[in-house]
Amino acid sequence: MKRDFDAENFNTFAASRRSTRDFLPTPVPDEVIEEIIAAGLTSPSWSNTRPFVVAVAKGEVRDRLSAEFLSRFELVKTGQGEGIIGKIKALIRRKGLPTSNWLVLKKYHKDLLPRSQRIGKELFTQMGIDRDDKDARDGFWARNYEFFGAPVELFLFTHKSLGKFAASDAGLFMQNLMLSAHSKGLGTCAQGSVAVWEDAIRKEFEISKNHSLLCGICVGYPSKSQVNKFEANRISPSEIMLPKKS
Ligand SMILES: Cc1cc2nc3c(=O)[nH]c(=O)nc-3n(C[C@H](O)[C@H](O)[C@H](O)COP(=O)(O)O)c2cc1C
Repeated sequence: MKRDFDAENFNTFAASRRSTRDFLPTPVPDEVIEEIIAAGLTSPSWSNTRPFVVAVAKGEVRDRLSAEFLSRFELVKTGQGEGIIGKIKALIRRKGLPTSNWLVLKKYHKDLLPRSQRIGKELFTQMGIDRDDKDARDGFWARNYEFFGAPVELFLFTHKSLGKFAASDAGLFMQNLMLSAHSKGLGTCAQGSVAVWEDAIRKEFEISKNHSLLCGICVGYPSKSQVNKFEANRISPSEIMLPKKS
């Protein structure tokens, strides 16, 4: 096997990738998108099946999807926090409700909730958003549906037949793709938030019924916005290493 690479600084490089949440409108050339997808495909895969597909949304398709998501989010927003009447109204306005991946909206298990709360709190503090300021929080969340201004949004679908193994393969693919993008000066952010309205994406791309939407990934050149200076905390290995039975 050829070993003509310099892997010495890999850990530093991997650690320097951070989610980008504000992009310049600068277009990303098609060849570059293909190169990062090719890098994604160097990841390991369950029996080498690559049980996932990618929809690349850019230009008019990207803009149409963003507009559709924003209008649906607007409907969901108005149905929230209004008690039972609000929820019923939201149900009636079915269009705003998720057409897939209800899991995205589920409350976090108590094992995981503190970590999720911590990232939310620290990110909002960095952005100067008060946790009681619902409009500001909704506005920040809505940026997901503008893909944070990124000119390209990738939608990743996994093959239903392989369940969690397909999701694992897609995750490995994503990480290689994101590191490749990072090596080229591009920013990325994985987006579970866009995984709730699969039907809208199906209207734009030929997608088999055997695939279901996992998440989106926005890709583009990072702006100098304050949000891109945010550094999410990283837990130490001891927090995930299991103790031996005594
Ligand atoms: C599958 C997946 C979905 C995510 N969804 C979102 C999202 O919808 N919006 C968002 O702002 N960040 C999202 N993130 C980014 C995480 O919040 C981020 O990776 C985490 O806080 C660690 O920060 P870092 O990526 O800067 O290291 C997602 C990450 C993953 C892996």
